Amino acid sequence: MLTEQMLDSIKKVESTRNGRMTLEPQRMSADEKDELLKKFHPDYKEDGFSVLEIGPNKGEKVPYELSRLLHSNSKVLGVNLDLDNVRYDVDVLIIGGGGAGASAAIEASSAGAKTMIVTKLRMGDANSMMAEGGIQAADKDNDSPQQHFLDAFGGGHYKAKPELLKRLVMDGPGAVDWLSSLGVMFDKYPDGTMITTHGGGTSRKRMHACADYTGAEIMRVLRDEVINRSIPVVDFCAALELILDENGNAAGAVLMNMETGEYLIAKAKTVIIATGGAGRLHYQGFPTSNHYGATADGLVIAYRASANLLYPDTIQYHPTGVAYPDQLFGALVTEKVRSIGAMLVNIEGDAFVHPLETRDVACAAVIRECSAHKKGVKTPTGEGVWLDTPMIEEKHGAGMIEKRIPGMFRMYMNYDIDMRKVPILVYPTFHYQNGGIEINAAGTTDKIPNLFVAGEAVGGIHGRNRLMGNSLLDIIVFGRLAGKSAAKLAPNITTGKMTLAHIDEYAEKLKAAGIDTGTTSPLLLPEYTRKVNDIAD
Ligand code: FUM
Repeated sequence: MLTEQMLDSIKKVESTRNGRMTLEPQRMSADEKDELLKKFHPDYKEDGFSVLEIGPNKGEKVPYELSRLLHSNSKVLGVNLDLDNVRYDVDVLIIGGGGAGASAAIEASSAGAKTMIVTKLRMGDANSMMAEGGIQAADKDNDSPQQHFLDAFGGGHYKAKPELLKRLVMDGPGAVDWLSSLGVMFDKYPDGTMITTHGGGTSRKRMHACADYTGAEIMRVLRDEVINRSIPVVDFCAALELILDENGNAAGAVLMNMETGEYLIAKAKTVIIATGGAGRLHYQGFPTSNHYGATADGLVIAYRASANLLYPDTIQYHPTGVAYPDQLFGALVTEKVRSIGAMLVNIEGDAFVHPLETRDVACAAVIRECSAHKKGVKTPTGEGVWLDTPMIEEKHGAGMIEKRIPGMFRMYMNYDIDMRKVPILVYPTFHYQNGGIEINAAGTTDKIPNLFVAGEAVGGIHGRNRLMGNSLLDIIVFGRLAGKSAAKLAPNITTGKMTLAHIDEYAEKLKAAGIDTGTTSPLLLPEYTRKVNDIAD
């Protein structure tokens, strides 16, 4: 039920709509953006972070919840594991069953490598599957990978590793072609050319989409491809630790059957971490748009094995998470809603930020509107601002919403909210970890030979803020790269004696630093996961 305050405010939004149809809010200057971010973006809130006391990033700040996991001991510390009792022995072990893992598996297997995916939930239970708005690729005549690079480099505050971003944009058109060739049904005009739109911070329309379920369509196709190629996938099988060999090379993983708790040893010539994001750690108490298993596991096991993290202190809060109704709290309202015409407006019906500012800036502007400016609309769980969705059909005519954002339309109609007629309430939600495990241009970690990383677990591709649509692109580009490179490397590798000595060494360092979190990591499932006994109750 919309409250009195909401209904009054909707009248104001309606009364300002005509004026806003023709008037674009001003873009901010670089200085204005910097000031806004420093004051209102959660990355700048000191008490959300802790300083790491051990490991390669010692002395750097990371979100408090992540530091707790990085400051914890292994789940298998002190467990008497027989590393010679090998259950799986492969060339390429892929940890994670999302888009990056699947792309890696397809390429590794087609290069002839003995490949296996392990995933703690089911294949496709991943942020890739939940991606909505689209995938960027500079494949139109008025565009170029260079232009794409400039947009993404600026959007990421000039902090992306140039060699990674270069690969992302250069391989963009090929990635979209590859997906099309496998069967992804991108939106097209009647003449067969791709429909492309803007995202926040893009200077060209290069967002390719499958309505507003782009990730689900891509994942459908990749999953089918993995199945059709008979690539082994072990579902409900979590990776608890990397296994190294006596020379410090990645050599496999300790796995755990999530249903029985049984430990299993996987030996591998190469390992690819494709474990995704961290939304379910709910940094600073934010809700999340992420899938249930997004608990930063890859970062934890790689860090314990001495891999470096890059920009782990930069998080993407998507400006438009659902603020109302409560049942959808934190779910994603795709940026595409703004890219096809909706505006962010406050309780008075006034636009307060350009709809397609980069995400960090738009997020900070929403937080400022609700806090310092006190122009938010109260909801049972907090507050939000309006996303004026009726503007879309005012601009493009009836039918546009059902055609281009059918998922959004249905999601709201389930709660009797018709976004064609009334605006919707939004507030930032934890969407993406910009930082992650540092890799080089070959997709490997410098510190741990034979260890590759792909997808959201990587840090450095996007700098300190990612543009919309560059994540679906990076899972394909860096997933494929990791799969191809690992398969090429595998025949040249002789694995030495397997060891978990790094776990003991890590425990020693924690002890010497006097740290005892009272917990173990990786987390695997969110802290609020119901236990079997709770369910019986
Ligand atoms: O808004 C969105 O559809 C999200 C896209 C992305 O994170 O790339």
